[in-house]
Amino acid sequence: MKHQNMCLIYVFGALTITSGVFSQDSTTLQPDVREVFVAVGSSVKIPCTDGEEKGVEWRFNSSVLVSSPVLSIQNTSLTDQGIYTCHQPNGNLIQTVSLNPGYPPSPPDVYCWSPSYPKRAICSWTLTPDPILPTHYITTYRSFSEPLSSARQCKKWEEQARQCALEELEIFAREPTLINITAVNALGSTTHIWPLVFEQIVKPDHPVNVSVMVMPGRKLSVQWGPPPTWPDPVNFLLKYTVKFHWGKPETARTLGPYESNKMVLSGLLAGRTYYIQISAKDFLDDGRNSDWSAPISATIPIN
Ligand SMILES: *[C@@H]1O[C@H](CO)[C@@H](O)[C@H](O)[C@H]1NC(C)=O
Ligand SMILES: *[C@@H]1O[C@H](CO)[C@@H](O)[C@H](O)[C@H]1NC(C)=O
Ligand SMILES: *[C@@H]1O[C@H](CO)[C@@H](O)[C@H](O)[C@H]1NC(C)=O
Ligand SMILES: *[C@@H]1O[C@H](CO)[C@@H](O)[C@H](O)[C@H]1NC(C)=O
Repeated sequence: MKHQNMCLIYVFGALTITSGVFSQDSTTLQPDVREVFVAVGSSVKIPCTDGEEKGVEWRFNSSVLVSSPVLSIQNTSLTDQGIYTCHQPNGNLIQTVSLNPGYPPSPPDVYCWSPSYPKRAICSWTLTPDPILPTHYITTYRSFSEPLSSARQCKKWEEQARQCALEELEIFAREPTLINITAVNALGSTTHIWPLVFEQIVKPDHPVNVSVMVMPGRKLSVQWGPPPTWPDPVNFLLKYTVKFHWGKPETARTLGPYESNKMVLSGLLAGRTYYIQISAKDFLDDGRNSDWSAPISATIPIN
């Protein structure tokens, strides 16, 4: 937490400079390496010493770059990334700089869905371009009219840097929930506020354990289980759609919805192999259909 606060302070410092350059003494990691962060396309000037010093030179990856006390890079590109060292005329090292070109965070592109309604919703986001620099995210959510101070933390989900989980969703809330995703790195920060109505983002995971049994009379009996991530299939019912095809997948037909976990396909042709997939949806039609389960096949015997 302390570390985060420090980062924020640095960021605001960098923003006031507005040159897109930011540096920090990483005394804790490598005592003598100064980390310098610079926005791609901007210029950076790094003096070797505080005072004038004759004959000093900058080297990049150990080869001489410029015989000048100031390292100056115009229009920084990603290929300028690396270790720069400044030396006295006798070769002694004065300082080491690690130059990190990258981008300030762009507004995150957010996608949220609830595979475990009403227990949990998950939000996932991407930044374009990728900032390349280490970037961390502050993610909170609250009801539309609640004060900022009552915001809850959207906790990191499944160890993904760009994914967080909202827990114990308020069902049929009167107003939307606002999720606030703030991305912070050495070059800046950006906030994206996104309104969510949980009922609109319900999306179960696909059904599991699909099994198909050949029955007399050219029929197939199909069974499946609810997605295990759906927390309460008794109070929050699901309904299912069955899709089957033979030959080309484009010719698939869908049947349903079914409230139970089984159905019988009939009127099938002997010798044909059928491929069957199941999708789940919230019983009240909230949100979207799950993805289809992986196809499972069965062949009608020729008698
Ligand atoms: C900066 O570099 C990029 C890529 O090398 C180039 O496309 C752009 O024209 C350059 N801009 C300036 C102002 O030199
Ligand atoms: C400089 O060194 C870095 C780190 O070893 C490497 O990624 C980069 O390609 C090198 N650049 C040049 C121009 O040699
Ligand atoms: C969004 O979150 C950031 C970081 O916690 C905070 O500074 C900002 O005030 C929040 N904005 C809104 C509108 O919630
Ligand atoms: C799916 O099958 C596994 C293994 O047979 C079983 O442990 C699990 O309970 C089944 N899940 C459902 C939702 O039917």
